[in-house]
Amino acid sequence: MADGTARVAAPAGNVHAFNPGRAQVARLDGVSKRFETKSGTVQALDGIRLSIGAGEFVAIVGPSGCGKSTLLRILCGLEQPTEGKVDWGGEGPAPRMGVAFQEHRLLPWLSIEQNIMLPRLMQGRATAADVDRAHSLCKLVGLTGFEKRRPAELSGGMKQRASVARALFTDPGLLLLDEPFGALDALTREQITADTERIWTEQGFAALLITHSISEAVHLADRVIVMSARPGRIVAEFRIDLPRPRTEVLGSPEFGRLCGDIRKKLEL
Ligand SMILES: Nc1ncnc2c1ncn2[C@@H]1O[C@H](COP(=O)(O)OP(=O)(O)OP(=O)(O)O)[C@@H](O)[C@H]1O
Ligand SMILES: [Mg+2]
Repeated sequence: MADGTARVAAPAGNVHAFNPGRAQVARLDGVSKRFETKSGTVQALDGIRLSIGAGEFVAIVGPSGCGKSTLLRILCGLEQPTEGKVDWGGEGPAPRMGVAFQEHRLLPWLSIEQNIMLPRLMQGRATAADVDRAHSLCKLVGLTGFEKRRPAELSGGMKQRASVARALFTDPGLLLLDEPFGALDALTREQITADTERIWTEQGFAALLITHSISEAVHLADRVIVMSARPGRIVAEFRIDLPRPRTEVLGSPEFGRLCGDIRKKLEL
């Protein structure tokens, strides 16, 4: 909402985080997920209603174990919901998706450029155009000069940059980021967050970011979704109307107020 206030569900309910205003690249409708384990049933998600519009940046914050990674895996089709429906692209074609995980998951025996081209290498041979694309993605994420290095020769932040570049290789319509910057030191993280905003602004893809950092969510997102502890439900949705680039408003009272409001919902 324009004033940054939350839309809050009734205690037993679930906020419907649909965004009706735009063409949708992905939509979860009443999605629940149960895992049957040796020690019993784990209800990870309960009745999630969430949509992501074309070109929109959505962030999800929520306590550890509330089902955020499960939601992301359902969104990219790696996992099936127990109940509810996942829909990609609405009336139009399903978007290409790129994913970057908390651990960089680069292959240690491949160079950075080969890791970035991995989606192509797995289909066969990479062409000269693919190598050019890998190099331009290295430039985009700030890794020029490191194309031929192995992951072990890069710092933690550089490896995360390479994993984001790999997620961008197929020119996705929807980029899924599962806490890719969680393990980085604060300064590196701030720099990568600012770079992520710039790349998103330049490239125009839709993005879903899962993060434990409220300020990172407010820095990047058009909407911040707050989830409850397990079983994960959506308890609040904040529309972030701060101007971009947000690097210029990080210290503003409005930024601080939004972070405080979101923190209160998380602590409920
Ligand atoms: N394959 C699985 N089998 C059984 N239980 C699972 C499986 N995957 C996830 N879970 C359980 O579902 C719940 C949600 O897990 P999930 O990894 O989605 O949480 P999360 O919000 O991403 O947590 P974190 O913030 O710590 O990454 C947890 O209780 C977890 O143990
Ligand atoms: Mg997780």
